[in-house]
Amino acid sequence: MAQIIIINFGSQVVHLIARRIRELGVYSEIKPCDISAKEIKKLNPAGIILSGGPNSVYEKNAPTLDKKILELGIPVLGICYGMQLIGRYYGKVLAGKLKEYGKKHIFVKNNGKLLKGLSKKEQVWMSHGDLVTKLGKDFEVLAKTKTCPAAVIRNENKKLYGVQFHPEVVHTVNGNKVLKNFVFDICESKKDWDFKSLRDELIREVKDTIKNDYVIMGVSGGVDSTVAADLMHEAISDKIYCVFIDHGLIRKNEAEEVKKMFKKLKFKNFFMVDASDIFLDKLKGISDPEKKRKIIGKTFIEVFEKKVIELEKKNPKIRFLGQGTIYPDRIETAQPSKNADKIKSHHNVALPKKMKLKVIEPLKELYKDEVRKLGKELKIHDKILLRHPFPGPGLAIRILGEVTKEKIKILQEADHIFIEELKSSGYYQKTWQALSALLPVKTVGVMGDKRTYENIISLRAVTSVDAMTADWAKLPFELLEKISSRIINEVKGVNRVVYDISQKPPATIEYE
Ligand code: XMP
Repeated sequence: MAQIIIINFGSQVVHLIARRIRELGVYSEIKPCDISAKEIKKLNPAGIILSGGPNSVYEKNAPTLDKKILELGIPVLGICYGMQLIGRYYGKVLAGKLKEYGKKHIFVKNNGKLLKGLSKKEQVWMSHGDLVTKLGKDFEVLAKTKTCPAAVIRNENKKLYGVQFHPEVVHTVNGNKVLKNFVFDICESKKDWDFKSLRDELIREVKDTIKNDYVIMGVSGGVDSTVAADLMHEAISDKIYCVFIDHGLIRKNEAEEVKKMFKKLKFKNFFMVDASDIFLDKLKGISDPEKKRKIIGKTFIEVFEKKVIELEKKNPKIRFLGQGTIYPDRIETAQPSKNADKIKSHHNVALPKKMKLKVIEPLKELYKDEVRKLGKELKIHDKILLRHPFPGPGLAIRILGEVTKEKIKILQEADHIFIEELKSSGYYQKTWQALSALLPVKTVGVMGDKRTYENIISLRAVTSVDAMTADWAKLPFELLEKISSRIINEVKGVNRVVYDISQKPPATIEYE
């Protein structure tokens, strides 16, 4: 049972609140804002957090809260919009009078329990246009900003607390302290959550959802789909069918390695589909990046669908489609109701239309590093868990221009050397992602006494936390020299190697 219930008013960062509470070792759950006081009472949490949201509290159709929730005697922390809701019920809120966005400072008058350990002046992250102006009896202001007279409020009797800033984002330097104070000192929660309990909880959920049916799932050998598949395998044993589609745009030896990996993980129903000729044929003559992506996405669905239909004929109890979707894959919409999330369309393969399968996404609330920790709990080898991300369209978006068999071979060989050297030097784990790209130009070189006119390989290695922004990795010159000389000597068709020193933004990690 969750100790902290987070009520979602449509904040873009509501999952960050949940994540921060999990990091404190306390189980929390996000609930839609139309949850009633009666339902909350039944859940019996130690505390409630009201998230932020994009609306103004007086706006038409702005989400509201069952006021009785604030009267249950359970401690409540309102964040931004959440605090304005408290203000609306027990005071007055001025809409649009003050716009505070970005880094600001609060000045603490009284620390109380909520601001324990904070200094008189603290950097916080603000994002609001409304302002709590008047507060009812028993409310106190604990902190203000230069322009906002009530930046932190409390009502000890009613156990209501409000912060105008976002404690869950990293720009609020001591935000974690505020959440910790609320969770442990005010709500008196106990540490009850770790990755073992998450593993057990997710396994239970999968069992309850699938019951006597079967799941089919496309796997790529990457971290997310492997952890999702393995978790379901733990839950329902051989009632999961895994399908790996080899589109021919994968890394050297990858198909064999994935096959071996699933054998090691003791999957009985693992199927490999070699569709490389189909993909290559469809990509013939195509050099536009978006067209390439679209063709690959569409073909992927067609091939997968065909395999599913074939397996469904053999086993009509296949009723679920498993997916390794993780939280950042989904778009957080501003709509704070049930089912508010949509699947991101540009990076993930859209759902096959013809299939009437129900979707199961056991990792959909987790961030990448949490997926890795869960994978560790499932005893999946580090070699798998620490793999760099690899995009769905594979090498096709790293071969600039038209994709041919010869170009795939050149890129696979070059990339293999790059990754091998990164691993043996210890730099693989120090980078978020590393890749090689085949540029669509040839340059002159000399080998032995002969003129050459061959391809350029561009190496890219980046550091990042979430792939939204990235910096080029400062690899040692000696390492780059070794990689370059190995590629030029060992890969036929390459006479020049360059290192990409672009940041994201404006450059992206992938080339197309
Ligand atoms: P960009 O190139 O947008 O990439 O900076 C950010 C991260 O996303 C990965 N990526 C993809 N992953 N399907 C995927 O599953 C895709 O179509 C795709 N495109 C980019 C990329 O490798 C990087 O980690």
